[in-house]
Amino acid sequence: MRICCRFFVFQFLFLFLSLFVIECFLPWQFMRFADSNLKYSASLRRQLSGQNQLLQALGDASHSNNNRGEVRVVKSREEKREEGLARARAAMRIAALAGTNLTPPTTYYDYDTAAAAVYRNPRLFYQSYLEMEKIFKVYVYQDGDLPIVHDAPCKDIYSIEGRFLHEMEHGVGRFRTNNPTAAHVYFLPFSVTWMVKYLYPKPSYDVTPLKNFVSDYVRLISSKYPFWNKTHGADHFMLACHDWGPYASDGNPFLYNTSIRVLCNANTSEGFNPQKDVPLPEIHLYGGEVSPKLLSPPPDNATRRYLGFFAGGMHGPIRPILLHHWENRDNDIRVYQYLPKDVDYYSFMLNSKFCLCPSGYEVASPRIVESIYAECVPVILSKNYTLPFSDVLRWEAFSVQVDFSDIPRLKEVLSAVPESEYRKLKHGVRAVRRHFTLNQPAKRFDVFHMILHSIWLRRLDIDLR
Ligand SMILES: *[C@@H]1O[C@H](CO)[C@@H](O)[C@H](O)[C@H]1NC(C)=O
Ligand SMILES: *[C@@H]1O[C@H](CO)[C@@H](O)[C@H](O)[C@H]1NC(C)=O
Ligand SMILES: *[C@@H]1O[C@H](CO)[C@@H](O)[C@H](O)[C@H]1NC(C)=O
Ligand SMILES: *[C@@H]1O[C@H](CO)[C@@H](O)[C@H](O)[C@H]1NC(C)=O
Ligand SMILES: *[C@@H]1O[C@H](CO)[C@@H](O)[C@H](O)[C@H]1NC(C)=O
Repeated sequence: MRICCRFFVFQFLFLFLSLFVIECFLPWQFMRFADSNLKYSASLRRQLSGQNQLLQALGDASHSNNNRGEVRVVKSREEKREEGLARARAAMRIAALAGTNLTPPTTYYDYDTAAAAVYRNPRLFYQSYLEMEKIFKVYVYQDGDLPIVHDAPCKDIYSIEGRFLHEMEHGVGRFRTNNPTAAHVYFLPFSVTWMVKYLYPKPSYDVTPLKNFVSDYVRLISSKYPFWNKTHGADHFMLACHDWGPYASDGNPFLYNTSIRVLCNANTSEGFNPQKDVPLPEIHLYGGEVSPKLLSPPPDNATRRYLGFFAGGMHGPIRPILLHHWENRDNDIRVYQYLPKDVDYYSFMLNSKFCLCPSGYEVASPRIVESIYAECVPVILSKNYTLPFSDVLRWEAFSVQVDFSDIPRLKEVLSAVPESEYRKLKHGVRAVRRHFTLNQPAKRFDVFHMILHSIWLRRLDIDLR
């Protein structure tokens, strides 16, 4: 008992001092807690955030210490978990102080200073990533049956669903825990793409079957386990690349408004909330693989013949404008609805300085990741799209955003980018490539870990933007 007490007093002093220092003296310009404006998520996430609970715990302890000469020694697993998160936040705040000019220790992270420009705050991101590696644990619900639960496509346009799910369920497993009481977040491992495939006897635009499935799944796990009800789903996440992901999530109002939704369709005009949801990159894998052409882009000094390139169908609101102005019009800006039979899509990308990535029916476009692989600077033509990993990456350091109204002047806009600026952007593209790369098994800092890191930030309730 004596030893326990002394240990506790030490720990208490340490925590108290560090909280005091952190709360009172350290500046906040690099970090702030997300100020979620959503009714449910605001209160629940704050309740979850750990800092308050820790302060509360310290308050209780000091109170009883002063008045009754007792200290609370036994901590619940939950308290310990929240303390771990509080420590991670504290470490991140200290890292944030080092500022953006310092490069992280090279033993950990081998990028050069120029490449650091692609991060909002390289040190802070790096510290956050390390903290995630140290403690982050995900529980994957085992309930539900194949094919819609525990499986997802690993081919074609929605392949990121399957690649993430399989890595999470069957990967090296560093982040997965089989003990739900030890988890920081809970994964609902269903696939919206497979729902669309298996729940519809004939094609239809009625989203009711999706909503019903999701609603039933949440009812199942919330009646069988205590975790969902505790937070109304605030520490739960779903992941969907299918366009209908947001509609499916509407099957349960708390899933929609409170949980972390990891979505390719990250359209803020359709309820995507960047403070709690996570944008997911769309990666088109024909036959389940990245085209070998994209694996080895030409050397940095190779000339690229075309200023800009796009090929694709007349989908959604933006592409008709693009095609109207540029289809088969110009030798430098190559825009096609249908590529001629004898020319190859990826060769065009590898031969272009800028690759146009207009939204289609939905905001996400697989062209963005393909451009990054091809080391072709992406030109984002979209609206209300929250870009993947924009919580830590500065997209302006490796892409160009063009407003719709500038589409008629596209050639002028792209020609006006000075060569030195273009080199910087291209260098940026090379630097972020690893964050969009799929590996089997997953590797540090790759796309799987970046998605997980975005989820980790939402769970910490910290906004690095
Ligand atoms: C969670 O709440 C729902 C609805 O209030 C209830 O039906 C269910 O039994 C609760 N789950 C648990 C595990 O208590
Ligand atoms: C979820 O948010 C929508 C839009 O803000 C709102 O209409 C709906 O009532 C909310 N549902 C819950 C349960 O808060
Ligand atoms: C969508 O974008 C338009 C213009 O770019 C902007 O005025 C509007 O506020 C945005 N809507 C949301 C929900 O972010
Ligand atoms: C590019 O650089 C390599 C060596 O770094 C050199 O061998 C090659 O000739 C250069 N190519 C061009 C087009 O300048
Ligand atoms: C985003 O959502 C709004 C509202 O539903 C829609 O009008 C718009 O077309 C969507 N954006 C894209 C690029 O699909």
